[in-house]
Amino acid sequence: MNRHRALLAVAGLVMSGCTACGGTGSQPPTVTPPPGTFRETSPDASGSVETFSQTQVDRSGTFFSQLGTNTRTCNTCHVASDGWSITPAHLQQRFQSTQGTDPVFRALDGANCPSADVSTLAAASSAYSQLLNFGLIRMTLPMPANAEFSIISINDPYQCPETTASRPALYRRPLPSTNLKFLNGIMWDGREPDLKTQAKDATMVHTQPTTPPTDAQLTQIVNLETSLFTAQSQDNLAGDLTAQGGSGGSVFLSAQAFAPGINSGSGFNPNAFTLYTNWATVSDRNATAQQSVARGEVLFNTLPMRITNVTGFNDVQGQPLIVGTCTTCHNTPNVGGDSMPDRMDIGTGSPKPNLPSYLIQCNDGTQVATTDPGRAMVTGKCADMSKVKIPGMRGLAARPPYFHNGSAATLIDVVNFDDQRFNMLLTDDQKADLVAFMSTL
Ligand code: HEC
Ligand code: HEC
Repeated sequence: MNRHRALLAVAGLVMSGCTACGGTGSQPPTVTPPPGTFRETSPDASGSVETFSQTQVDRSGTFFSQLGTNTRTCNTCHVASDGWSITPAHLQQRFQSTQGTDPVFRALDGANCPSADVSTLAAASSAYSQLLNFGLIRMTLPMPANAEFSIISINDPYQCPETTASRPALYRRPLPSTNLKFLNGIMWDGREPDLKTQAKDATMVHTQPTTPPTDAQLTQIVNLETSLFTAQSQDNLAGDLTAQGGSGGSVFLSAQAFAPGINSGSGFNPNAFTLYTNWATVSDRNATAQQSVARGEVLFNTLPMRITNVTGFNDVQGQPLIVGTCTTCHNTPNVGGDSMPDRMDIGTGSPKPNLPSYLIQCNDGTQVATTDPGRAMVTGKCADMSKVKIPGMRGLAARPPYFHNGSAATLIDVVNFDDQRFNMLLTDDQKADLVAFMSTL
């Protein structure tokens, strides 16, 4: 209970004794946020997701206001109920209920191709298929000057004239604009130097403004974003994620310590997640589900994985085989991003039917096919081909699909990908425990 007490002091909350009392697993705890704090909960596929802020969230603030000419706001693609990303299920609802006029449906980067026909509802529904089915936004970056590689052919299912070898289309998932306290590297490819520059570039890229945002507007956006903490708070099977000594939910997350490199190098501790240690031996009526979550947490920390051929990792360490665990890469304590700004290629960019793929030739003659050159589009280096950052893992249940290109529809798809990629030979029970655990983050 010491952690609970310390946290309550930090958050200044008044909580009933319910986290300690048995048999209340599915009852929400009686928590009264002090005046001025913000707490909002929304249902998701496996329970509910919650956002907490020590300060009030002003819904008329810059993040929620139109900054350009196409009626979009930051909130168009960063929505609290979707873990501050966007999800296919909600995008399809938005498409239906607005007949395709919701501001997210703007051809410039919402459509598979900016010049696609969106003049009728039927045409729009196929033109926005990547957004509707995978929650993907079409980003583009110019080929870097002095790139050590070139795109020698493009296999584009959309035959988009704007998708070219000098400006490839990179269909990417919006990263959550929350939990930014734990960031290490901004954007999938780490290209933004700081959050103010990111907010300015996001305004210019997505909202078609006539003038850039002011410094005061950018400051307000960053203050809002950095105040937000988002996590799953309730699980349909395991119940309240702070019951029985559990430390899930966004209020605990807001008190989680972080500094760049906090869990790397000689001080690395593979037991990066300790949210549900107390659930290993619970015996209330949600015990079966709670114990599965606790086992999943232990597996995530300790299950050996044979990590090979991961560029950005095996090559950097100079070791072709590293036996690690999920937390070797997802090491930020109780958050699961990487505490260092590393970028890696674990193979998620291999060609897929719904994505253009690019055949790339490096100056040394080697060729590779990828759906997204990732970090290489920033540095121009072949060594950075298809590398992306390791995103934080909180609020996962609210924001499928997963990976930068949405190629894993569900958490079990992620586990199956890792199982095959890293030769893990997981049992069905182990897979179920890992999914149960990740669903409570
Ligand atoms: C049309 C959809 C869209 C809009 C509108 C939008 N974003 Fe994003 N956002 C994205 C996508 C896609 C990414 C990831 C792109 C990438 O990595 O190349 C992203 C990434 C981010 C990130 C990076 C988080 C991380 O973990 O690195 C932040 C922060 C962010 N957006 C904030 C904003 C702000 C602030 C605004 C408003 C000025 C905004 N976004 C408007 C789609 C959008
Ligand atoms: C060698 C490093 C490494 C290891 C080990 C690793 N991951 Fe990852 N993980 C990554 C990278 C890199 C990404 C981002 C890939 C992408 O977006 O294309 C990722 C993404 C994910 C995501 C998706 C997050 C999101 O927001 O889309 C989940 C979930 C995940 N990993 C779970 C696991 C689990 C479970 C294990 C252990 C079985 C594991 N990872 C082991 C590197 C690793």
